[in-house]
Amino acid sequence: MKGGARLAGDVMVGGAKNSALKLMAVALLAEGRSVVANVPRITDIAIMAEVLRRLGCDVTLDGTEAVIDVPAEPGSEADYDLVRRLRASICVLGPLLARRGYVRVALPGGDMIGSRGLDMHVSGLARMGAEISGEHGFVIASAPGGLHGAKIWLDFPSVGATENILMAAVLAKGVTEIDNAAREPEIVDICEMLNAMGARIEGAGTSTLVIEGVQGPLKPVRHTTVGDRIVGGTWAYAAVMTRGDVTVRGVRPEFLDIALDKLATAGATIEPGDNCFRVRTSERPRGVDIVTLPYPGFATDLLPMALGLASVAEGSSLITENIFDGRFMFVNEMVRLGADIRTDGHHAVVNGRDRLSGAPVRATDIRAGAGLVIAGLCAEGVTEVGEVHHIDRGYPDFVADLARLGVEVERTDVPEPTFDF
Ligand code: EPU
Repeated sequence: MKGGARLAGDVMVGGAKNSALKLMAVALLAEGRSVVANVPRITDIAIMAEVLRRLGCDVTLDGTEAVIDVPAEPGSEADYDLVRRLRASICVLGPLLARRGYVRVALPGGDMIGSRGLDMHVSGLARMGAEISGEHGFVIASAPGGLHGAKIWLDFPSVGATENILMAAVLAKGVTEIDNAAREPEIVDICEMLNAMGARIEGAGTSTLVIEGVQGPLKPVRHTTVGDRIVGGTWAYAAVMTRGDVTVRGVRPEFLDIALDKLATAGATIEPGDNCFRVRTSERPRGVDIVTLPYPGFATDLLPMALGLASVAEGSSLITENIFDGRFMFVNEMVRLGADIRTDGHHAVVNGRDRLSGAPVRATDIRAGAGLVIAGLCAEGVTEVGEVHHIDRGYPDFVADLARLGVEVERTDVPEPTFDF
């Protein structure tokens, strides 16, 4: 990829990965044919489809639709070979426990953005009467007599724990209250699909979710996935870093309030519209301090873009990460591009440079990969980003979108060299 282009034009963003994956798991709660529309065409969705197939569902991925036919009695086991490739498959725990009273899901293990616990998923389900144990790398949960409602306080507004507890609670006996629940737009999306299926959830988008368990079966539905605010935010940051002019379609700007406000502070003009927004600037951005927090705070998934912005901004910026302990691990790759970044614990001090310098670098996770690509847009010369399969997990058609916005970019399959003894 050649640096120096000014991104200009329109970009269409599809459904949110982190919503669509869970909506596919939500479908497990009702026998019959549910359709999740506006799913992104990414590897993770294909893996989730396979997880559901192995649970006995008939799943067809047709363009941007996932058609999921759920049997009367879905399976109750998710194996390590799929779970290790898609951590999010842990979200079948709640719905399968609710429907089958027994579930065995492989533990996903860590990943490149740090350790990621399951303690809140487990303690929440235990409060609802589940017996939970771990053995041979699996988490095993059973509730032969069914789950009951409970009052659950989360220590931290975990997205995954909120989702698992929510999906288990919709069929439990009695009322479940989740306090300090996650408030992400993706959680609201899940609640909307569940309510359309016949669940009774109140408080979606607030810190307190009240779920009245229903006894009758839920019904399958068709649901359209909310737009991907992280992909939308990535384009917004790329626009400002390249002093460009980009209109992002398919994402509601209010879901990116803080992220867009930071860009305005950096000197950009933001024009919010209906399910779209325009971001433009012709000046070098100014440095801004950014702190990641659970929604509605600045999204941790945009941290690499925040570091990218700071790396080319005028002045210095202090960037703080509060969600994942390993999120700064890709900083060494940014430094290879000439970025002046020093980290200490969960803080990074960044001194902006007018231009970065193209180099071969390596993607370590989805967001770091996208962050390196957009940093490469501001680098002199050619940047080669390796291990782009990470980016494929979150950004459908990334290369085509970049090319449409004016970047000289190509994707090549480089075989790994072999070394003989
Ligand atoms: N945590 C615990 N115990 C738990 C649950 C979470 O300690 O029981 C900790 C985690 O270790 C982490 C923090 O709490 O440090 C946040 O975890 P959370 O449960 O909120 O995140 P998640 O459900 O694992 C989802 C997204 C992530 C996104 C985070 C935060 C999916 C599939 N993943 O992860 O997305 O960063 O919420 O918004 O929805 C990505 O898309 O690239 C990605 C990493």
